[in-house]
This record gives sequence, C-alpha cells and structure tokens, in this order.
Amino acid sequence: MQTHFLDLNQLNDDEIMELIRSSIEYRDGKLIQLKRPVYFANMFYENSTRTHTSFEMAERKLGITPINIDPKNSSVQKGETLSDTVKTLQAIGTDGVVIRHKTTGWYEPLIDDERIQTSLVNAGDGSGQHPSQSLLDLLTIYDEFKKFKGLKIAIVGDLLHSRVARSNAEILKRLGAKIYFAGPDEWYPSDFDNFGEFTNIDSIVGKVDVMMMLRVQLERLNEDARESFTAVEYANIFGLTEERGKKMKKKAIIMHPAPVNRNIEIANSLVEAPQSRIFRQMQNGVFARMAILTSILKSKDLIAEDEYEDIN
Ligand code: CP
Repeated sequence: MQTHFLDLNQLNDDEIMELIRSSIEYRDGKLIQLKRPVYFANMFYENSTRTHTSFEMAERKLGITPINIDPKNSSVQKGETLSDTVKTLQAIGTDGVVIRHKTTGWYEPLIDDERIQTSLVNAGDGSGQHPSQSLLDLLTIYDEFKKFKGLKIAIVGDLLHSRVARSNAEILKRLGAKIYFAGPDEWYPSDFDNFGEFTNIDSIVGKVDVMMMLRVQLERLNEDARESFTAVEYANIFGLTEERGKKMKKKAIIMHPAPVNRNIEIANSLVEAPQSRIFRQMQNGVFARMAILTSILKSKDLIAEDEYEDIN
C-alpha cells in the first residue's frame, strides 16, 4: 500500500482500477469516518485553480482538515528548502503534504530521507507527472467507454511542456490504448515515440475516440518563442477548430485538462459542446482525489473501516 502518491505509473493495473472504482464509489455518495483528526497541508508553488481546490474539497469531504500554505507568504521566501518546509509541516503535525512544484521530480530527494514520514502527494511536478489529473482523466474515459484497451486517443498540442501529456501517454499505452500525438514539431519530445505515433491533427481527428487537447503553456516559453507565437496561426494548424470538430466520430469525446486558451488550442464553441467532457473532468477530479487520499489514509490505518456509510 502506498504512503506517498507521486506517479500513477508506479501502480499496477489492478491498483489503478481500484482507484477508479473507489472514485466512482465516492461519486455515488460513499462517506468514511476517520479514526482520529487528520491534517493535510496544501502547498502550491505554481498557480492552480482546479487541482488545489479539488484537493481541498476532497480533503473536506473525507473529514481531513486542510491547511493551505501560500509559498509567497511563507518562509520559502527567506530561503527555506523544500525538504525543510516538509519537515517543518511534519513537526507541526500534518499527516500529508500536497505539493505542486516547478521542479520535475521535486519529491525524489525527499522520499529517500527516512526522517520524512508525512505522506507526499504530487499535485504536478514541472514537465514530469500530474498523477491526480491522470487518474481523473482515466475515470472520465472509463465513464464513457468502460474500457481502455483498443481505444484510439489523440493527445494534441504543447506536448513538450505538458506533464498531463506525459502522465497520460504512459499510462494509457500500458492500459492498451493506441496513442497518437499531434502538435508543433519543436514541441514534440522524441521519447514520446515510446508511447505512440506522432502525426498531424487532420489525419487523426476523424478516427480517434478521444481528442485530448493541451493548453499552450506560454509561461514556459522563452521570450523569443513567446514573441513569435501567433494564436490564429496556431489554431489554424494545430487547434481543434469548429471545422475539425465536425469531423470527429459521432461518439468521440473532447477532453482538456484546463485552464483552456479559448480559440487557441480549442474553438470557444467546442469547450461546452455536447461532445466535450472538460467540466466533467473537473467534477471527476474531486472524486479521483478522494480515492487518492483514501489510499494514503488506508496505508496509515486512519480509516475506521466499519463506519462506511452510503448516503444513496
Ligand atoms: N488541470 C490543472 O492542473 O489545472 P490547475 O492548474 O488549475 O490546477
């Protein structure tokens, strides 16, 4: 059983399906009782709306007390290291710390430090992994198709800077989906060849089951790249325009981790179109994060198993 939750790819297929099942149980109204008061700190070194809020919502629904720490107003500003901040939060009494950080693999030096016993939850590391997003994406796809094997999934856009693309490509391939990538050549990481086929949006839009669009991450581009970026040109060549949306298969769905750059990677009208699952993904994010936190609570024997209650 996992004490930390860092990378979905570290779990086996059964453990992933168990997390999906657990998410669905919470969505269906399951509640739990904790054995004692439990505290989790949420610390987001990079901006977030969805992940931060839905981790806090998940914590509150499970009876965990959230402690929100804004790194901008913390002793991080005085030069405190991430390791010392985590040890401080542990000393103060948190059972877990949810962290988003710009450093890819921020958790690696911490998990080898046996003095750190508080659970670490990865809410996104640089261009590495975004495992809670990946779980909510799996849940959303499973809701729709009840399987992963044999599905055709396109991941399109700013692949280089996207931890969502990396997390999802790896896990979806392992679960038996056929992955296609599309986007600018200069934003294609060559190691993605291990997970799928790099092609162009027009050759795949009519044949895939899922169009997973990615945000153009302008904040991660250098000044030259930012200045030469043109929204209209990007939309025409790489975006899911209305015209391309019409070519999608009847039962195909649109996904996007959000926040969305409307009319850049996806047409404004498609964000809330019938085939879009973008807001459904956000809704599923709360239940997926409840399942993740539950796996940690179980590993620490903090759940009073006999007091499960079904509100339906
Ligand atoms: N999808 C996602 O991670 O959104 P936030 O950056 O708002 O958390």
